[in-house]
Amino acid sequence: MPAEQVLELLDLLDARGIDVWVDGGWGVDALAGRQTREHGDLDLGVVRPHLDTAIEVLGATGYAVTDARFVEVTVQLTHAEGHRVDLHPSTPMPGGGTEQTDFDGNTFHIPPPEIGRIAGREVRCLPLSAQFHTHQGYDLRPQDHHDLALLNQVVWERASEKHVREYDELLAEARGDGLLERREVELLGPVLATGPVVVHFQSGHGLDDVGLVKAGARLVVGVDYSSVAVGAAQRRAVELGVSCRYAVAEVPGVPVRDGCADLVYTGKGALIWMRDIAAWARDVARVLRPGGHLFVYEAHPAVPLWTWDEDEPRIRPDRSYFAESHVNDTFPGNGAREWQWNLGQIVTAITTAGLHLQVLEEYAEPFWRPQDGTTAAA
Ligand SMILES: C[S@@+](CC[C@H](N)C(=O)[O-])C[C@H]1O[C@@H](n2cnc3c(N)ncnc32)[C@H](O)[C@@H]1O
Repeated sequence: MPAEQVLELLDLLDARGIDVWVDGGWGVDALAGRQTREHGDLDLGVVRPHLDTAIEVLGATGYAVTDARFVEVTVQLTHAEGHRVDLHPSTPMPGGGTEQTDFDGNTFHIPPPEIGRIAGREVRCLPLSAQFHTHQGYDLRPQDHHDLALLNQVVWERASEKHVREYDELLAEARGDGLLERREVELLGPVLATGPVVVHFQSGHGLDDVGLVKAGARLVVGVDYSSVAVGAAQRRAVELGVSCRYAVAEVPGVPVRDGCADLVYTGKGALIWMRDIAAWARDVARVLRPGGHLFVYEAHPAVPLWTWDEDEPRIRPDRSYFAESHVNDTFPGNGAREWQWNLGQIVTAITTAGLHLQVLEEYAEPFWRPQDGTTAAA
């Protein structure tokens, strides 16, 4: 269904005072603020007391109810020309938002709608956290993988606002020492001594890049799909006068020439966002010059299994080392979906891409802890 048609339907429903919001695939695109794929149908959340009026308004434009078997969860309407609208009724709650029932009869809370954009116009849409929730508990189809990747990107755009809010603190930190971990400096010392060109996959706030330049890199090119993160990192690099350049782009698919890097640097919360670890490793191999190095300083794949409970660190019953993914409940939050790669999968992806493993170390101390004073080791 094209964007213009979505907006027309929303206008018609709005004119009758019907409380609806866009969910499903169009809702994901609305959160991202741009159309990223074709949508065969339109999914709309609607408050239950307005369901009948919504069906009536859509009926007047040529839609007929074609499936109402699961009226608690969804009512499907089809237009004579074949377009479909799925209405998802939910019950308004006293504290705000609504409560929706899923196909298993479970209920979940939907916070009030957010403002997104379709074809440049503001629309009410299902909030980010609820979008992630509705993508759980079933076998993901290709369009779901697409939507989850986009939702993760929206999460990172929002979470990276932290780098803007804390710009001054990060700038002060960047002016100091100790930007790289001690072991990073030791292992990378010989490579950095040669003045390498470094490409940093998923560069985030970019403090590592300043550390790499201070330790000898001739140039660091940071690549991250958050324009907010890239903007803040670039501004900081200019202010510090360090040789770091940034590009807003997706990994894999880093927009640099084949064989241009002496070193690809990455990690500290990067690999869990890669949907395809083999494609990631191939991109690393493509970007590296012959004889170039990959350096990954990453959270151990077992970290998500542990609670951050100071008194009694334990294995979480809801996690598995061999699971495909889990829901992020620390930072960047919002129910973002992290992909899991165990040590074997990571090493195999790297060696299959043609790289030789030189060092593989494990450390007792995590490089990151939730910023709530938690002192438990992961
Ligand atoms: C936890 S941060 C780690 C980055 C960096 N090492 C740091 O400490 O800031 C993860 C970063 O990966 C970026 N990211 C996640 N998935 C990505 C993708 N597919 N392509 C490009 N960047 C991505 C996010 O925007 C975020 O800045």
